[in-house]
Amino acid sequence: MKMLVIGSGGREDAFVWKLQQEKNVEKIFVCPGHPYMDRFDKVELLPKKNEDELCDFALKENIELTIVGPEAPLTKGVKDKFSDKGLALFGPSQKAAQLEGSKIFSKEFMMKHDIPTADFVVCSDFEKAMAALNDWDMKEGIVIKADGLAGGKGVVVTKDKKIAEQTLYDFMKNPKVSISTDSILLEKVLPGVEVSAFALCHGEEYFFLGSACDHKRVFDNDEGPNTGGMGCFRTPEWPDLKLLEKIESRILKPTLKGCVTTGMPFSGFLFMGLMINEAGDPYVIEYNVRMGDPETQTLFPLIEGDLSTGLIDLMRGKKPKLRLKNESSVHVVMTSGGYPSIDDTPLDKGNRITFTEDLIHSSSEETKLFLAGVSRNEAGEMINSGGRVLGVTALGPTLERAREIAYQSIELIDFKGCHYRRDIGARSRG
Ligand code: AMP
Ligand code: GLY
Repeated sequence: MKMLVIGSGGREDAFVWKLQQEKNVEKIFVCPGHPYMDRFDKVELLPKKNEDELCDFALKENIELTIVGPEAPLTKGVKDKFSDKGLALFGPSQKAAQLEGSKIFSKEFMMKHDIPTADFVVCSDFEKAMAALNDWDMKEGIVIKADGLAGGKGVVVTKDKKIAEQTLYDFMKNPKVSISTDSILLEKVLPGVEVSAFALCHGEEYFFLGSACDHKRVFDNDEGPNTGGMGCFRTPEWPDLKLLEKIESRILKPTLKGCVTTGMPFSGFLFMGLMINEAGDPYVIEYNVRMGDPETQTLFPLIEGDLSTGLIDLMRGKKPKLRLKNESSVHVVMTSGGYPSIDDTPLDKGNRITFTEDLIHSSSEETKLFLAGVSRNEAGEMINSGGRVLGVTALGPTLERAREIAYQSIELIDFKGCHYRRDIGARSRG
């Protein structure tokens, strides 16, 4: 089978790593990918294309299955374009992609389908938002969310009324701030522990991938600014089976059913960002309509069975023949110096990356290397060219063992300015 993968980061590197191993996958086109994806011999890299060009390409090349990494092509309707031409793409329609694309759409969806989430109000102008804030009991704090995709910058959680007022001004009025919205969501703060859960879905059929905990802050002990994700872990001990069962029955199943009854059956990866309260009950913070990065690099090495066959089965309404290893997984991300550069100072890029041959070929059973922000210099050497440069995933019988192996491997990699957190998976969250 010929496949097409859309995207270019560590998440897509993990998609390709998995698909490359599967017998019935003959060729994997990646658009645009990164230069080192060609270390997988079934891969052919394509120059950047828009959604129409991707569709033309898939038709011309008889692509049998397309998988999408990032949300942007999905919110722009790539699925609908492929479906119109009779092409199989694993991802939601533009309508269903609003579950990620519009926070207000997704909250209203959750209310309508009795999916547990924080109480909220929607304000359609600045004056109404200020009035709602005035009436807000700030003891527990407030969450302010701009509607629409905001690259992770559209959410502020605070107990300080002055900061809340400034945020409303910034999001709704301030011309100097990149986020600009007429619709704002004010939400109650959910106390608890955050975890994300994932499923491969098609209509009401699904394969539950379980959960993973991302570390978003750049420095150890969750200090410093937010990033796209500095590392991630999954352990079978937490969430335990009882909690996973609650997530499945109270959130995953009603979400898929709700999508069907609203006339937007969900096909694709469903990412449920959750808060687990003290009583052990899950609440939805947000949906994403794609896999996470670095959650994919953490979870995919645990999947046993053919993903390509599993997805085709699922899209034909059959339960996929996939299983998850009952092991712990730890993924540590290595970044360029200066990342995440909240003040836009240039990152320390273009430095030669050194590491062992064993790692580059991802040949070890226990350790996988996933590449993201890398390119080749004129001498043909690997250099860092992005914020999140690469990451190592290790599996182990315990979280502690997986951590140990991941850190032994990451210590073998070096480049000028490189940075990684040393506490990924150090404390299980349960
Ligand atoms: P979101 O973009 O909606 O995922 O929000 C970004 C982050 O803000 C989440 O990962 C949470 O850490 C936090 N957050 C969002 N909504 C809430 C909430 N209702 N209660 C507590 N924290 C929240
Ligand atoms: N790691 C969080 C995300 O992919 O959105």
